[in-house]
Amino acid sequence: MKLWAGRFSKEIDKKTNDFNSSISFDSRMYKEDIEGSIAHAEMIGEVGIIDKKESELIIEGLKGILADIESGKLEIDPNAEDIHTFIEGELTERLGSTGKRLHTARSRNDQVAVDIRLYLKKETKNLVSMVKELVKVICDKAEENASVVMPGYTHLQRAQPITFGHHLMAYAEMLLRDISRLESAYGRMDEMPLGSGALATTTYPIDRTITARLLEFDRISQNSLDGVSDRDFCMELASALSIIMVHLSRFSEEIIMWCSWEFKFVELDDAFSTGSSIMPQKKNPDIAELVRGKSGRVFGDLMTLLTVMKGIALAYNKDMQEDKEAIFDAVDTVKMCLTAFTPMIETMKTIPENMRKAAAHGFINATDCADYLVKKGLPFRDAYKATGTLVALCIEKGLTLETLPIEEYKKICDTFDEGVYDAISLENCVNGRKVLGGPAPENVKVQVKRVREIIA
Ligand code: ARG
Repeated sequence: MKLWAGRFSKEIDKKTNDFNSSISFDSRMYKEDIEGSIAHAEMIGEVGIIDKKESELIIEGLKGILADIESGKLEIDPNAEDIHTFIEGELTERLGSTGKRLHTARSRNDQVAVDIRLYLKKETKNLVSMVKELVKVICDKAEENASVVMPGYTHLQRAQPITFGHHLMAYAEMLLRDISRLESAYGRMDEMPLGSGALATTTYPIDRTITARLLEFDRISQNSLDGVSDRDFCMELASALSIIMVHLSRFSEEIIMWCSWEFKFVELDDAFSTGSSIMPQKKNPDIAELVRGKSGRVFGDLMTLLTVMKGIALAYNKDMQEDKEAIFDAVDTVKMCLTAFTPMIETMKTIPENMRKAAAHGFINATDCADYLVKKGLPFRDAYKATGTLVALCIEKGLTLETLPIEEYKKICDTFDEGVYDAISLENCVNGRKVLGGPAPENVKVQVKRVREIIA
C-alpha cells in the first residue's frame, strides 16, 4: 500500500514500481534516516506538536528498528519505495497510530535532503582519514628515499637530477590540497535542511535549532526551496573526488612505468601484483592500472550529477533521486582505490641502483655544466651553447659529460677546468638544489617533517 493510497484508485504498476523505487541504493542510509527521524520526533514532542509520551514511544520504536536492522533481525523490504517509506511503515506496524504521527511537519523532500547530508558528512570524514593515511605512507617512503638520485623528467625526457623522495613528496602536496578540498566541501554540506518541508516549510511551530543541535549540524539552511532542492554539496564532493582520482591516476601511471623492464625503478610486492594466464614471466601492476581506469567512473559520476541538476525547476523533482547512485559510486570507488593503493605504496620496493643508472645517462647534468660556466663569469646563453656542443660531441663519441676528457672541454671553451667534474656530479647537482621546494635530501627531510605535522 502506497503512502498516497487515499488519492489513488489503484496500485502502482509492478514494473513501474521497480523503476520508481530507490530502495536498492538508498537503503544504505537507514542509519541516517533513523537518526534524522529520532531528532524530528524529539523536536515535535519538545515543542508540543505531538504528545511527549508519543514522541518517546516513536523514539524507542525507531531505536528498536535500528537495532533490528543492524542485528539482521529486520530485513529491508526490496519492494519498498525507498528507505524513508520502509522505516516509517515498519514503525507504524510496530506502534500503530502513534507511528503515523512521526511524519507531522515533515516531508520526504527535507527528509532525504537531511539523510544524504548526514551520510556524506560521515563519508567525507572517512575519506579525509584515508587520504591522510596515504600521505603518511608517502612520507615514510620519501624519507627512506630522501637521497636516492633519479632523473626528473619533462616531456618524459630525462631533464634534471632529482631525488626519489622529492618526486614522491610532490604527490603528498597534491593530496594535502585534496584533503583541504574535502574539508571545505564538508563545511558547506554542514547545513541542516530539515524543516524545509516539501518546499515551503510548515505552519506548525517547529524549532529547527533543536533538530540542528541533535543532528550536530553547524547551521540551518536559510531558504526552504534551496534546502530541499540543491545538491551542490554532492557535485562539490564528486568534484573533489574526481581531482583525487586525477592524482591517483597520474601516480598509478608512473608506477606502471617504473615497474616496466624499461625503467625498473620499483618493484611492487607480490600481494599487490598479478600474474598472467599464459606468460609465466609476467608480474603486472594491475592495482595501479585499475586505479587509473576507475578514475573514469568518478569523472562520470560528477558529470551525471551536473547534468541531472542543470535543468530542473525549483524545488524537488524526482530527477534528483539520481543523485544517490552517482555520489555513492564516487565515494565507494575512491575508498576502494585508496584501500588497495595505500598498502601497495607502503610495500613497494625501490631499486636505487636503477634510478642512479638512468640518471647517469641522458645528460641530465647539462644545465649544471652550463651553470658552472656562468658561475665563472660567462653569460648564460654562451654557456648554454658551449654545453650543447659538448653534449653533441659526447653523443658522437659515445661518452658522458663525466667521462669526456678535460682537453675536449677546453677545446670548446677555455673557461673549463678540472672543477667541472665536481660541478656535474649527480650528487652535487642534487645537493646543491636546496632552495625552498628543491630536491636536495635535506629539503626532502624538512618537507616530510612539515607534511607530517600538518596531517597529525
Ligand atoms: N526516494 C526519493 C529520493 O531519493 C525520496 C524523495 C521524495 N520523493 C518524492 N517523490 N517527493 O529523492
